Amino acid sequence: MRVITLEEVDSTNLYAKNNLHVLEDRTIIHAQRQTSGRGRLTRKWIDFGPGNLFASFVLKPSSDFDEKYSNLTQYLSVVLARVLEKYGLEPKIKWPNDVLINGKKIAGILSETVMQGANFKGLVLGIGVNLNATADEVKLVEDKPVTALNLEIGEVVDSDEFLKELADEFFANYDEFLQKGFEFIKSDYISRASFLDTEVCVQGFNSTQSGIAKGVTDLGELVLERENKQFVLTIGDILC
Ligand code: BTN
Repeated sequence: MRVITLEEVDSTNLYAKNNLHVLEDRTIIHAQRQTSGRGRLTRKWIDFGPGNLFASFVLKPSSDFDEKYSNLTQYLSVVLARVLEKYGLEPKIKWPNDVLINGKKIAGILSETVMQGANFKGLVLGIGVNLNATADEVKLVEDKPVTALNLEIGEVVDSDEFLKELADEFFANYDEFLQKGFEFIKSDYISRASFLDTEVCVQGFNSTQSGIAKGVTDLGELVLERENKQFVLTIGDILC
């Protein structure tokens, strides 16, 4: 594993994608400041400036895409939950990969696949973690409740130290995850899930679906039930 730290960048994901051809497998692009962070489903990532975590893992696991790679965001959500537990917190996961503390979002995860024509070149797995913010700053994010680690533990957090803990935890089980896929982390994921057996609405690219979240399949998909019928969602974000 190698870490490249940049003072300022538009987006660590964009930088990693644009430079993927010269970056080695398992390189982490880490920025002190991000000016144009990208979020899921074409949203922006609203951050709290320097002192927070902005990082992208460059992963080149093989020369062909494998369906298991779609679950890397869920793997990273479990990894992050384990790290936050070391700070004495009880993180919950909201499908597919939001990590919450006391119902408030503390991090965002965005995976982007890099192709050259029909050829798979690698993945960029980006993560932003709110590590240091003020109570007033987190209130300004309007669409959902947000928190930061320093507000939860009452101490300033060292972002370099946090990245090291996160990266060590990530790579400790990464090879086994690549072999086994979502099933390898399923029980760890489910044990932290905050959404099961509740009414949810899930935003996809073009539509919103609602129903009772009944479970998660062995492939990490969400099972929803509506009018006594079950159906499976592979992509989306639980909004409510
Ligand atoms: C989300 O919408 O919840 C995902 C947000 C992902 C944000 C991180 S910050 C580091 C990396 N670079 C980006 O531009 N986005 C991701």
